[in-house]
Amino acid sequence: MATILITGANRGIGLAMTRLTAQRGDTVIATARMPDNADALNELAAETGRVAVRALDVTDEASVAAFADATTEAVDLLVLNAGVLNAYGGLGDPAHTAEAWREVLMTNVAGPFLVARAMLPNVDRSAGKKIVILSSIMASSERAPGNAYPYRASKAAAANLARNLAAELQPRGIAVGAYHPGWVRTDMGGGGADISVEESAGGLLGRFDALSMATSGVFEDYRGQAIPF
Ligand SMILES: NC(=O)c1ccc[n+]([C@@H]2O[C@H](COP(=O)([O-])OP(=O)(O)OC[C@H]3O[C@@H](n4cnc5c(N)ncnc54)[C@H](OP(=O)(O)O)[C@@H]3O)[C@@H](O)[C@H]2O)c1
Repeated sequence: MATILITGANRGIGLAMTRLTAQRGDTVIATARMPDNADALNELAAETGRVAVRALDVTDEASVAAFADATTEAVDLLVLNAGVLNAYGGLGDPAHTAEAWREVLMTNVAGPFLVARAMLPNVDRSAGKKIVILSSIMASSERAPGNAYPYRASKAAAANLARNLAAELQPRGIAVGAYHPGWVRTDMGGGGADISVEESAGGLLGRFDALSMATSGVFEDYRGQAIPF
């Protein structure tokens, strides 16, 4: 059984991945910005006895440092899932403010970087040695329709981050991948999205199991279909 760390685990795809991994017998370190308000996650922790809920804001260096101090376990699989989307519009979208850019880039790009760096010793001494980043098909420059600028740019950078981490961590035997979870019915994806959190989480976990040093650097969706950078 593995130890899996999942960021942004209090709702959406992160919560579903936490549920599935705890149900299959893994130990899960599940993070939330506000653990005291994470009702569904706390219930899951009480039900299964396999989930440790810890505070983490991925944009805040002090929070990342405190989380790293509290997290002494070896981590077989680090799932960098926490993310935000601001708005879908084009250049004229008033939601694309400098503050929105800061929040989206800090959360979706700097966040995975800061947490991966802080957790590297924990991943290094595990048997599993894997780091995965939730990017999006909206990252793909080959499929750029001209909108949702901060989110698309942030997820392109997240895929780039995964690719660079794969290269730097190759000599240490740590495999890294970037993933599109599908268009999923969550607060972010909306009620009209294609698939449930269960289908997405199940598919993603299968792809994380399949990740190896031979496939490190991959960018693919929850069914294993390659996504063009
Ligand atoms: N849903 C989709 O269709 C879709 C498609 C492509 C990619 N994705 C990606 O998949 C991942 C999960 O998406 P989702 O649909 O499950 O989103 P969601 O339902 O909106 O949940 C986002 C999670 O990220 C957490 N989070 C946000 N900012 C954070 C921060 N600064 N520090 C720590 N946690 C933070 C949230 O915590 P709070 O509750 O505290 O806000 C929440 O737990 C994201 O990276 C997203 O970009 C989703």
